[in-house]
This record gives sequence, C-alpha cells and structure tokens, in this order.
Amino acid sequence: ITRFPLIPVRGVPLMSYIANNWDSIWAFRPDPSDLLIATYPKAGTTWTQEIIDLLLHNGDAEACKRAPTPVRSPFLEINSPPPIPSGLDLLKTMDPPRLIKTHLPFQLVPPGFWENKCKAIYVARNAKDNLVSYYHFDCMNLTQPEPGPWEGYIHKFMCGELSWGSWYDHVKGYWAEREKRNILYLFYEDMKENPRREVERIMRYLDLSVSDEVISKIVELTSFKNMKENPMTNYSCVPAPVFDQSISPFMRKGEVGDWTNHFTPEQSKMFDEDYEKQMKGVNIPFRTLI
Ligand code: A3P
Repeated sequence: ITRFPLIPVRGVPLMSYIANNWDSIWAFRPDPSDLLIATYPKAGTTWTQEIIDLLLHNGDAEACKRAPTPVRSPFLEINSPPPIPSGLDLLKTMDPPRLIKTHLPFQLVPPGFWENKCKAIYVARNAKDNLVSYYHFDCMNLTQPEPGPWEGYIHKFMCGELSWGSWYDHVKGYWAEREKRNILYLFYEDMKENPRREVERIMRYLDLSVSDEVISKIVELTSFKNMKENPMTNYSCVPAPVFDQSISPFMRKGEVGDWTNHFTPEQSKMFDEDYEKQMKGVNIPFRTLI
C-alpha cells in the first residue's frame, strides 16, 4: 500500500492520485438532482451521510444496505483512493439522483455543481477536535501521508500543509458561499448537542417529510455507539492495508473537546493566537475552542 505524496492543485496540497487526475475531476458534470456533501476530513462526514441515507430510506436500515459501492457508503467520493474503485468511474455507471461526497475546498469543487444548482450540505467541526481526529486518521489510513510527530502535525495543520489543504480556508470558503449557493452549513457540535434538531434540519433542507417516530429511530441508529458497532458504518469493510483499525478505530471517540487530552497548555495558546489571526473578521459560530 502507498502513502500518496501531496501535489499542489491551485495551491492546495492533494494526494497524487487526485492531482494526477485533476482535469477529469474538474470536468465532472453532475445532474441537478445529485446531492453533494462536503467536509474537511474528520468533521463528521460519515455520521451525516448515514443520517441522509436513512432519511432517504424513511429510516429503513435494511434498505440502506443496498449500497452502490464496495465501501458501504452510499456516497461516492469523487476521488476515492486506489484500490477502492474510482468514484468518477462508478458515477458514470449510475443514474441520478446520486449522493456525492468530497473533501475538496469550495474553490476546487467542479463548477458543474453550482451551474446545475445542486443541493449541498457542508459539515464543519471545531479546529482543535478536527485536528486531533485527523491526526489519528493519518496514523491508521495508510494511503494518507505520514503524520509525523504530534507537535509537527499541529504546525502542518496551521500552515495548511495537510492533505486537502487549510482547514481555515476550507470552513471559510463554504461559509462565504453558503447563501448564494444554498448550501446547508452544519456543525458537528450542534449534532452532538441536539441530534434530533439537526436531523430535522437536514430533512427540511432535502424537502422530505418523515414522521416523528422515524426521526427518533434515525437518531438512535446514528448514535456513536450504534454506528461504531454497525459493520455497515464502522468501515470494517475497508481492507486492512488501507485502514489499519488496530492503530486507531475509524469510530474513535466521537466527542467534543477531546483536544484537551492532546494539546499541552503551550500548544493550545500558540494555536489560539494563530487562530485569531487566520479567522479574523469571519464570524463562523464555532462554539468550542475553549
Ligand atoms: P473522532 O476521531 O474524534 O472520534 P469523518 O466521518 O468526517 O471521517 O469523521 C470521523 C469523526 O466523526 C471521528 O471523530 C468519528 O468518531 C466521528 N463520528 C462518526 N460517527 C459519529 C457519530 N454517530 N456520533 C459522533 N461522532 C461520530
């Protein structure tokens, strides 16, 4: 298995299998009925995907199992890493509406999505927890670049040197466009605080109408505990050479504030000072930096 090197695409470091295939990704034409879910990696993508999948199947977990990809997510990643089959190739074989997932920053999303006025859901997670989760992921996902030591990893995150680029640019990019592009902008912390409220928010955005009882069922099925135990959602089907879950499970902790177990007070202070600068003048309501 290869840890892919990073190659910049318009200044954003992307893994080589994406950068080398960039022209066909950029040219991808979705159907207006396709739904996009976009996140910085480790912000709550899988959780949100599962909620959407269940909403679309009226809470029927069995129906959700009939997924189109070998990796169980019904969302096709525009650019899944080898040896997982390419999302672009799979998309060509499927009829819309399709659920399409990406970690690309806003400016690199194929423009066809906006030209066709596709619906799009963005999930953001507070910087420090997102960083911690990404660190553990980079240890266990053997296609991602080597994370290196923890202290250096914090700096790479702050400088936007990790795969998919700067967290700061990512969350700001979608935030700036959310009204113009009708993007539903969600927060991981809101989902933890009141999952029912956020499931209903997603339901309304998708123009679905699901009973209160089914909403309760979806909230239960998508709890961290249930998703961790469910082989359809815990990524245990991804072959061991890609995800080594003995290093760190994909469903790791699922909490808000785990960063306090990783950052020293000095690292936290340094991170906060830099955060102030990078997020100056932007009012994205992240609630959990302290
Ligand atoms: P941790 O590493 O902090 O545990 P993504 O799906 O974008 O890769 O994000 C993965 C992160 O979301 C992991 O965070 C994972 O545990 C967490 N997660 C996944 N499902 C969850 C759920 N149902 N409830 C809370 N957190 C969840």
